[in-house]
Amino acid sequence: MNDLLKLPNVNNPNFNKVGSSKDKNCQVKLFQPLNIKNVTLKNRLIVAPMCIFSTHSDGKPNSLHLIHYGNLALRGAGLIIVEATAVQEIGRITPYDLGLWSDEQIAPFKALVENMHFQGSLAGIQLAHAGRKASGPNELLRNQKGMSTIEEGGWPEKIVAPSPIPVDNDWATPNELNKEQIKQLINDFANAARRANEAGFDVVEIHAAHGYLIHQFLSPITNKRTDEYGGSFENRIRLCLEVIEGIKTQWPAEKPLFIRFSCTDFIENGWNIQETVKLCTIIKKMGIDVVDCSAGALDGRLQNLPPLVPGYQVPYAHEVKKQNPDMLVTAVGLITNGKQAEEILQNDYADAITVGRSFLRDSSTVLNWADELGVDIEWPCQYSRARISKN
Ligand SMILES: Cc1cc2nc3c(=O)[nH]c(=O)nc-3n(C[C@H](O)[C@H](O)[C@H](O)COP(=O)(O)O)c2cc1C
Repeated sequence: MNDLLKLPNVNNPNFNKVGSSKDKNCQVKLFQPLNIKNVTLKNRLIVAPMCIFSTHSDGKPNSLHLIHYGNLALRGAGLIIVEATAVQEIGRITPYDLGLWSDEQIAPFKALVENMHFQGSLAGIQLAHAGRKASGPNELLRNQKGMSTIEEGGWPEKIVAPSPIPVDNDWATPNELNKEQIKQLINDFANAARRANEAGFDVVEIHAAHGYLIHQFLSPITNKRTDEYGGSFENRIRLCLEVIEGIKTQWPAEKPLFIRFSCTDFIENGWNIQETVKLCTIIKKMGIDVVDCSAGALDGRLQNLPPLVPGYQVPYAHEVKKQNPDMLVTAVGLITNGKQAEEILQNDYADAITVGRSFLRDSSTVLNWADELGVDIEWPCQYSRARISKN
C-alpha cells in the first residue's frame, strides 16, 4: 500500500505538460474522457453518492437538492451520483432520505436531472435499501443516537434483514425477510430503476456496500440464513444477482449499470476481497459495467479498520482490476488531490476516481484539480473572470 503514496508518474518531467481536456492527446488521464456504453464522461472524476438527508420525509428532492447537485454540476463534474435513494419506504436510512418507491416521486427527480444536465454533468443515482440500518438517527441533529422512533418519523418495528441480528444494543431486532418479501424487494429495485430511467438518469449504481441490505446478504457476519439465500458464497450472492437481473429488465441495456461494494468487512471470517473479486467475474458477464470499490461499515463494533491513510481503499480497486481487467473500476476513499488521483490512474489501479468529502468542502474540486495538474478545462462562462490567468 505504501507504494501508492509515491508519485512516480507525476514526477516524471515528461508527464506534467499543460494539456487540454479538449485535446485528444491530453496526457493527464484524469481529464481524458471515459466512454461507458452510450455515455461519455468528460473527465474521470466522479462525485460520490453522499446523503444530505434533506427531504421533507416524502423521498422527493426539493430546492436544496437542486442547489446542491446543480452547484456541483456547474463546476465541472463529469458524473455525479446522487445519494442513496431508497427503493422501499422502509429501506430509508433516515426519514429524510431520497426515495424512488413511487411513481409520484419521478417528476421532482426529473427536474433534478434536467438541472444537472443543464449545467453539463451526467446524472447517476444510487439505488439502495438500508435493511437493518433503516430508521436510523437524523444525522443532521448531531446529538441523536440510535434509531429514529415512531414519534421522530421512524419505523423501528418494521425494519428487515437477512437474519434477525440488530446493528447494536440500542437498535431494534430486524424482521427476517421471507421469500415473498425478497421477491417484492427485487421487484422494487427493478421498479426504482424504471423510475430512474423515466426521470432521465444516465447511470444507476446499485448500493451493495456499507452494511446496507445487499451487503447484509453478502456477509456471513449478518447473513445466518439456512435457505438458498444464506450459507455458501453462491447462496449469499444470490440476492445481489437477482437484484441485478431485476434491474436489467427495467434499465435500458445501453445505459451504464454500476455497483458499489464494500470489498472487505475488515472482520475475520467476514466478506473479503477474494469473494469480491469472484463476484465481480460473475457480474461482469451479467452486464455490470463499473464496480465502485469501497470498504467496511458492516459492523462498527466488530470491524478492525486499517490506518486511514490517503488512498487506503485503493488496493481493493487495484485487486478487482487486476483480476478482472475487462471490468471498469473506480477507486474511492481519502483521495484528496489531483496528483494522487492521477497517479492511481497512471498506474492502472482504477479507470476513474470517485471523490466524496472534498466536494463537500469545495464544490470547485474539479476546477482546482485541473489547475493543479496543469490542464486547461472549460470553466462556467459566468465565472470565467474569477479564473487565475496563466499568462
Ligand atoms: C456526508 C456523507 C454521506 C455519504 N453518503 C453515502 C451514500 O449515500 N452512499 C454511499 O455509498 N456512500 C456514502 N458516503 C461515502 C462516500 O460516498 C465515500 O465513499 C466516502 O466519503 C469516502 O470518500 P472520500 O474520502 O472522498 O470522502 C457518504 C459519505 C459522507 C461523508
